[in-house]
Amino acid sequence: MTNIDTATQVASATRTPTPRTYLMCRPDYFTVSYKINPWMEPTKPTDTARAVAQWQTLYETYIDLGHTVELIDGVEGLPDMVYSANGGFIIDNIAYGASFTYPERQAEGPAYMDWFRERGFDVREPANINEGEGDFLLVGDTILAGTGFRSESRSHSEVAELFGREVVTLSLVNPNFYHLDTAIAVLDPLTGDENANIAYLPSAFDSKSLAILQDRYPDAIIVSEEDASILGLNSISDGYNVVIAARATGFERQLRERGYNPIGVDLSELLLGGGGVKCCTLELRR
Ligand code: ARG
Repeated sequence: MTNIDTATQVASATRTPTPRTYLMCRPDYFTVSYKINPWMEPTKPTDTARAVAQWQTLYETYIDLGHTVELIDGVEGLPDMVYSANGGFIIDNIAYGASFTYPERQAEGPAYMDWFRERGFDVREPANINEGEGDFLLVGDTILAGTGFRSESRSHSEVAELFGREVVTLSLVNPNFYHLDTAIAVLDPLTGDENANIAYLPSAFDSKSLAILQDRYPDAIIVSEEDASILGLNSISDGYNVVIAARATGFERQLRERGYNPIGVDLSELLLGGGGVKCCTLELRR
């Protein structure tokens, strides 16, 4: 038996899925009519029906895994609302609202906050520009926070104070990976920093941030540029099942070797807007 087999067996035995609750937004009004990231090409046609069908597969994947999925209605004229990860950042029933960088998405902030309020969340209006779980990732007990393209670093201090947790600022340097959730995948988002692990793309970070990641997560999965370039890192893990982009075959292999169960879905139509699995999913931590 090779070392990897042993490692896999040990890992598989210890990986347990925990049921989650997610918020999603069906892409009924999805299109690419403006350009706020390098992925978006407004002159290129999009197929809304195809986006809905692909999104539906993701929705059903979560249901089949035993997760709960809640839905927010899309709003005509807000084509990016399907990327619900950007709608806020929620821990312990406290919903920190989003305040979007670009005017095209600004109306989404209040739309999501209204939804949180109606569902009984303790909504906190943001004082600084931030794009929710696109840039704030809960890893164990720690919040990793991205800046460079969207969320302002001042929002990181706001989040630290609001949730009373350690917030680690990470600077993104490649415009293709403009949100933290395009450059880092949270694999074990359980409580306790000991169990926490991530996968990431080193070149997406400045040297100081990279040193922090190397120091904190020595066992992290380092993904290839190829897998990252189709937003393979933009994935959702329940501690065992990891829903990823179907085309990220290298990442799929790496996950399997570590005892995870990768599940590929095709969201190619939503990739035209610069988003993948994680972007379409906001975790509701009540
Ligand atoms: N078109 C959207 C934007 O540029 C995509 C957002 C992707 N969301 C994410 N969590 N990475 O804002």
